[in-house]
Amino acid sequence: MTQAPPPADLKMQRSSRDASTLPARLAEWLAGVLPPGADPAVTLHHGIDANGMSSETLILDVAWTEDGERRLGEYVARVAPAPHDFPVFPTYALADQYDAIRIVGETTDVPVPQVRWFEPTGEVLGTPFFLMDRIDGLVPQDVLPYNFGDNWLHDAPHEDQRRLQDATVDVIARLHAIPDAGVTFSFLDPPHPGDTALARNLARTRAWYDFAVADIGRSPLVERGLDWLEAHLPDTDEAVLCWGDSRIGNVLYRDFEPVGVLDWEMAALGPRELDLSWIVFAHQVFETITGMLELPGMPHFLREEDVKATYAERAGVEVGDLHWYHVYNAVQWCIVFMRTGARQIHFGEIERPDDLESLFHHKPLMERLLDEAGA
Ligand SMILES: Nc1ncnc2c1ncn2[C@@H]1O[C@H](COP(=O)(O)OP(=O)(O)OP(=O)(O)O)[C@@H](O)[C@H]1O
Ligand SMILES: [Mg+2]
Repeated sequence: MTQAPPPADLKMQRSSRDASTLPARLAEWLAGVLPPGADPAVTLHHGIDANGMSSETLILDVAWTEDGERRLGEYVARVAPAPHDFPVFPTYALADQYDAIRIVGETTDVPVPQVRWFEPTGEVLGTPFFLMDRIDGLVPQDVLPYNFGDNWLHDAPHEDQRRLQDATVDVIARLHAIPDAGVTFSFLDPPHPGDTALARNLARTRAWYDFAVADIGRSPLVERGLDWLEAHLPDTDEAVLCWGDSRIGNVLYRDFEPVGVLDWEMAALGPRELDLSWIVFAHQVFETITGMLELPGMPHFLREEDVKATYAERAGVEVGDLHWYHVYNAVQWCIVFMRTGARQIHFGEIERPDDLESLFHHKPLMERLLDEAGA
């Protein structure tokens, strides 16, 4: 098969949306949302290339007239991906993300962006989107991973890194402390079969894997993981609000303190261990990569025992062994890599690998976890 020539702008290839007409379409829509005479004008910015893989995030300014004066608002649009853009997830419940952020903002002091207007029809941009206020802050980079070095987090004193770590664990503790989450966030209970929220999350992950297989093929490693997870499901019916993609790469920081908790597309009801494992595991994935490249990495950072100790202190709850949850999250990372790999192949960014598991940057880590579990 001949490979398509490398596209001039790989980032744009991720999306088939036409950037040149976006400002005019957004302005026309805002003219109908804002009071008459607002005369909105939209300026679209770019510059979110370090992170942002699974959905569309647009950075934009809006100028409009109010009380006879011209005002300027700084916003971010979260746009649902189109099916032909090879989305990471099989379904995209944008309204649930919007509601989760809104309710967290209304009921806690966790810093989330103020959400503004929601466009549910898809008639403006091709898929639904919402606008939220833009927060000024820095995100630890994913590309290249922050633990490779030469970035603000890596180069900071260890005590500042630790402040960032502890403050982020504290955010997770505060989210988990929201009372009656099962009722307030019932829309985040996975609509899959299972007697507990955790069982329903696992069933959703199995379905997500099946969805990924259709485009890229099967992975024996993932199936080994899923089989083991199903056979060893922890006996818990806890259902707190889990942020889901609870990584420092989804937080805006100023002076090492969280000022914006982002990316709610994986939010779900479930046991608190889901979030605690995810924040530790995401760092371990990056450490696996630096380990393979014989780079020093950041072994002192986001260590499991430290995260658990801080969480126990802030939440007043001691969490037990995270092994099952690490395997669960290792499987989810595999599926993300299956989807991003399928997309890169589709858009001609990489050749289809002979072994799809070569896309799993954390494969040694996952194999070790499975071996330790006797899976
Ligand atoms: N409200 C906001 N204010 C400022 N910047 C934002 C805001 N929302 C998103 N961003 C920027 O956009 C980036 C991507 O946002 P987000 O993590 O929500 O999207 P994503 O596409 O799901 O990313 P990923 O798949 O990498 O997790 C953030 O890292 C941040 O730089
Ligand atoms: Mg993100």
